[in-house]
Formats: sequence, C-alpha cells, structure tokens
Amino acid sequence: MTGVRKKGGWATEDWLQAIAAELEAASTTAAVEAVRVAWLGRRGRITEALRGLGALPVEARREAGQRLNRLREAAEAQIKARLQVLKAQEEAETLAAERLDMSWPGRRPPVGRLHPVTRVRRLVEDIFLRMGFAMVDGPEVESLWYNFEALNMPEHHPARDMQDSFFVNLPGMVLRTQTSPMQIRAMEAAGGRLPVRIIATGRVYRRDDDATHVPMFTQMEALVIDRGIGMADLKGTLLAMSRALFGPETAIRLRPSYFPFTEPSAEVDVTCAVCGGRGCRTCKDTGWLEILGAGMVHPVVLQNGGYDPEAVSGFAFGLGLERVAMIRYGFDDLRLLYQNDWRFLAQFGRGEDGM
Ligand code: DAH
Repeated sequence: MTGVRKKGGWATEDWLQAIAAELEAASTTAAVEAVRVAWLGRRGRITEALRGLGALPVEARREAGQRLNRLREAAEAQIKARLQVLKAQEEAETLAAERLDMSWPGRRPPVGRLHPVTRVRRLVEDIFLRMGFAMVDGPEVESLWYNFEALNMPEHHPARDMQDSFFVNLPGMVLRTQTSPMQIRAMEAAGGRLPVRIIATGRVYRRDDDATHVPMFTQMEALVIDRGIGMADLKGTLLAMSRALFGPETAIRLRPSYFPFTEPSAEVDVTCAVCGGRGCRTCKDTGWLEILGAGMVHPVVLQNGGYDPEAVSGFAFGLGLERVAMIRYGFDDLRLLYQNDWRFLAQFGRGEDGM
C-alpha cells in the first residue's frame, strides 16, 4: 500500500513505483496531466505529505523532508519524460493523419468562357474603336418613329413587311427590329457636329426561327457622317474590318441592293472563310458569304437626324454578329448559339481570341 509510513519515514519507493505505473497507463498527455495533479497538484499526495512534515519531530522532519523532495523531483522527471514520449507520438499521429502530398497536381476550378457572340462582339468593337469610332448604346424597346419612320420607312411602306416585328403593349412601340434607329439617335446626340463616327451593338428582334434565323439576334450598326464621305470610304472601312475578322487574304464584294435608309445600297459578301473562296457547302459553291447590308445614308435620314444632305454625306452598315461567329468559327446552324448546350459552348476558348 502506498503512503504507508515505514519506520522513521515515507514509503517513497512504493510511491515512485505507483507513479511509474500510472504514467505507463496514461496514454494521452491529458491523462499524464491527471497523474501530475493527483501527486503534485495543490491537493496531490506528495504536496499533502510535504505539508504534513510540520507535525513530525525535528529529527524525523529533516530526513523525511529530504526524501519527499527527492521523490518530488523524481516524479517530476518521470512526468516530463512520459510527456515527451506522448507528445512525439501525438505529433507523429497528427502528421500521418494530415499528410499532404505536395507533388499532387492542384485542383483546376472550372473557368467560365465567353459566349461566341460576346467574343465576336468584342473583336469587332475593338476593330472600330481602333479606327476612331465611338461606341453608343440605345433602347431595345423602340418607338416606331426611330425604328421605321425616321429611317424612311413610313407606315405603309412595303419595306416594313421585310421585317416581321414584335409589338409590345405600349402604343407606338416595338422591340427594335434593327440597330439602324441608333443612326437617328446618334445624329441627334451629335447635334449637328461633325464628324459623326459611331458603332452601336445590341440585340434586335424579329419573328423568325429557322437554321439561319433566330427571333433575337445581335447587330452592329455603324454610321459615319462628314463632308465628302463617299462609297470608297465605306468600301475601305469594310475591307479593313473583314480582313481583321477573317484573315488578311479576305476579299469583299458589294452587290447592288435596296434599303429604304440608304441610297445607293449594297449587300456585302466576304470570301468564304471555310474554303478560301474555292466553293464549298457553307458558301453553296459560290465562294462568297453575305455578312452585312450597307449604303450611303439616304438624304431623308440625314434630314431626320438634323443634318443637311446638301452639305454632308455619310455611310452606314448593319452587321449580323451571329453570322460573323458562324463564319469565323465554322458552324452552320445559328440556333446552336442560343440552345445553351455546354458541349457546343465549351469548344470556344477562354477570352483571348485564339480561334
Ligand atoms: N438594318 C438593316 C437590317 O437589319 C441592315 C442595314 C442595311 C443597316 C443597310 C444599315 C444599312 O445601316 O446601311 O436588315
């Protein structure tokens, strides 16, 4: 039994053995701490024994005091040794449990991609910003005046039938069928100043739905007005744009056409980017792909924008960005752009236009 008083002293050997056994059994640092408290804490057995020394006769007190202090030192040493072993063990366990192989490849977070129309839009806008055009923006719900009348398409003008409009529940308003109303808005904003040199990109709406037409699509309108602007300026601008978009070998051709807001008017083709002009399925063996409508701004339109057709002239064109995307990336169903099929969209790169 520990703590028994042997003749003339304390059973320090027994105590030391008891402590050793308890420490051996303690398998965590917390258990070791419990052992320490039981023996050396404020109410610990050794502490109590030391406190009890005062009751002994002087002779015995000295001898017992020395023994108890040696015992205390021995106990402290044992505790410290045991703690060291356990701490090392616990550390090893933690390291094993939290093992991290730094040679593993990192996780690649899924990165979003720009929609092909967004990429084409940025590309074209960049081309024109570098040519000194300003970028303007306008409403998708547009008045009949801006969308038709001001553009030389009065109410019973047959040209209105060219575009089946979406009307909205507001008298005199439509979802704009073209970005051309931005020509009038830009002229009004310029207030007669020269030159006017703008592009306006945005959504337009028509009652159309097949492989080459969707009810909502994206146009970019361009308008230049100054003194002495001619067809050559239009042609040069379009050639520069086409080469920047489809490659330096690209050629363009202008076919006479009709738009109410331009005179003369042209439809513009570029050499087919798929076959390089030799003829293929995409260009229906013609070697050419139509990309836009263009022309010299009609005098009536200039007037409606507040400019004098006797003093200034201008050109305008309207480019369909979905078509540009089709030609540039080489796919043949426009609807793919708006079906949100990840397998289609994931084929386009990440921003910098590599393709
Ligand atoms: N607004 C026409 C359309 O949507 C395209 C167009 C043709 C725009 C000739 C123009 C232009 O600015 O001059 O079909």
